[in-house]
Amino acid sequence: MQHTVTEAFHDDTYRRLGFAAQRRYPNEELVRFLARHFFPIPRTERASVPILEVGCGSGANLWMIAREGFAAHGLDLSAEGLVLCREMLASWGVAASLHHGDMAALPFADASMAAVVDVFSAYCLDEAGAARFLDEVARVLRPGGRFFTYTPSKLSEAFTNHAPATLSDASTLSGIARETSPFAGNTYPFRFTTNDELAAALAARGLAVTSSERVARTYRDGEELFWFAVIAAEKR
Ligand SMILES: C[S@@+](CC[C@H](N)C(=O)[O-])C[C@H]1O[C@@H](n2cnc3c(N)ncnc32)[C@H](O)[C@@H]1O
Repeated sequence: MQHTVTEAFHDDTYRRLGFAAQRRYPNEELVRFLARHFFPIPRTERASVPILEVGCGSGANLWMIAREGFAAHGLDLSAEGLVLCREMLASWGVAASLHHGDMAALPFADASMAAVVDVFSAYCLDEAGAARFLDEVARVLRPGGRFFTYTPSKLSEAFTNHAPATLSDASTLSGIARETSPFAGNTYPFRFTTNDELAAALAARGLAVTSSERVARTYRDGEELFWFAVIAAEKR
């Protein structure tokens, strides 16, 4: 049910808005993560370094991963998003392997990935789905492999002042319903987390946090803050 609503929402948005549905250029925190851990790898060796973006959408991040010479893999629930992603990759003259599926059931072998990255996508899973997703991240990462996530934080007023939306579990809103909230009009489950909750969930799966930060931006000229937890972890 959750995926039906989420998939339908994203298919509709990508169909109506095309590339305007998302950014065209990569997330800055993701660039920072890659620069720290993967850009030191010589270009001649990068083709054997598989990096998976879950919820790759229209490819704003994936094209950069491919263009940097890594073996790029993208997975998304939205077939419409993947149509745009193919176009995005072609426009940059790069290639990636694309998969239509659910990040809570990854179609990849155990220990097959050097990195799994999530840029504002795993928030679409409720707590139960997120637990399955992190199990999958731990399964597909190689020892020494790395996880990156940029995901909404419970510090956000969109979470602390969420009426008239309701909670479906301790972290997940039924949608973003307050008209003045960032992301208002998102009618699918929308999960928030804290850096500590996420670090504990990762540690329980053998992933040690290497970096735990928070970034925020204001909306309505400083009236409202929306926070993201930005976490990197390494599989031991
Ligand atoms: C806000 S968009 C972000 C897209 C991309 N990461 C970016 O930064 O441009 C969220 C994406 O997550 C995808 N998504 C939501 N739930 C998913 C799931 N369970 N499995 C895979 N993709 C999912 C949506 O279809 C959508 O493309």
